[in-house]
Amino acid sequence: MILKRSIYFILFMVLAINFILMLFFGKETFQIKDKPVTAVKYDYHFVLISEEADNPYWRLVEKGARDAAKIYNVYVEYLGPNQADNTEQLQYMDQSIAGNVDGLIIQGVKNERFDKLVNKAFEKGIPVVTVDTDAPESERAVYVGSDNYRSGMLAGEAFIKDTQGEQLVGIVTGRFESSSQQLRIQGFKDAIQQHKRMKIVATKESKITKSGAVQATYDLLREHPDLTAFYGTSALDGTGIAQVVNQLQLNPYIISFDILPQTIELLENGSIDATVAQYPYQMGYKAIEMLLHLERGEHPGELQFTKTKIVRSEHTPSHKAPMKGAGS
Ligand code: BGC
Repeated sequence: MILKRSIYFILFMVLAINFILMLFFGKETFQIKDKPVTAVKYDYHFVLISEEADNPYWRLVEKGARDAAKIYNVYVEYLGPNQADNTEQLQYMDQSIAGNVDGLIIQGVKNERFDKLVNKAFEKGIPVVTVDTDAPESERAVYVGSDNYRSGMLAGEAFIKDTQGEQLVGIVTGRFESSSQQLRIQGFKDAIQQHKRMKIVATKESKITKSGAVQATYDLLREHPDLTAFYGTSALDGTGIAQVVNQLQLNPYIISFDILPQTIELLENGSIDATVAQYPYQMGYKAIEMLLHLERGEHPGELQFTKTKIVRSEHTPSHKAPMKGAGS
């Protein structure tokens, strides 16, 4: 009898200890919190819509916007097509307006649908800030980004300064329908217009991808093997051009856009001669600040240009000598 009781007692103790241990370690393991989790309260919900979600240039715009958002207690939603596509971009815009967000930051698109959506947003009290590319004919409140025409001129002026003799230029541009790309080409054309030794021979699209720029460069060279210079007008064009001319062991003058790490590397090793630096991080940051001004009923100047400047390769002087296929 006593033995039986002792066994029951031991069994009971084992179970009790197990139970206590389970409570203790279970709580540790599953991290049951004593206090309920409270949701973070944001002051505003803004949406940023890019030309292409995973493009490294747009990731910098996003980073700038997110950093500013953290400081100003804003929730930023970042949206964009997987591959540049105006229709998809505008769908995101429409959805965001329908969702009554507090503000929109979007790359300007030059078409009627965009203008109508900006009006729709305006009627609902949602301010729109264009970033990177403006749409001045729309009712957008503010533009934050490069002066794209001026930056094209800067590229043209650098090209004039860095080269001698006859130059036949092939242009690789992001997308024909992008107005910032059009302005960069126009600025370049206007800058070199007085110089009879320079001629733009052909222009092809890269669809803002590196592989597109590679293809465009091959096509340009196949159709015009006498090209002596290339101008890449969107962030990955210069890297595509450089890849092809290196493979074919050609040595044309290359001027590109942006200072993404891959472009800097090509500038450092002399594959690219010069590039127009833009500041996408600052664009994203400032765009958030502009929306906050608008939310407070303040009216910042409608053109908020971020800096642009030429960055040259240390190897550029080698190109000052007349090149193969270039008369003096
Ligand atoms: C342009 C953007 C474009 C990006 C693509 C940049 O130079 O400013 O409009 O989306 O290149 O890589």
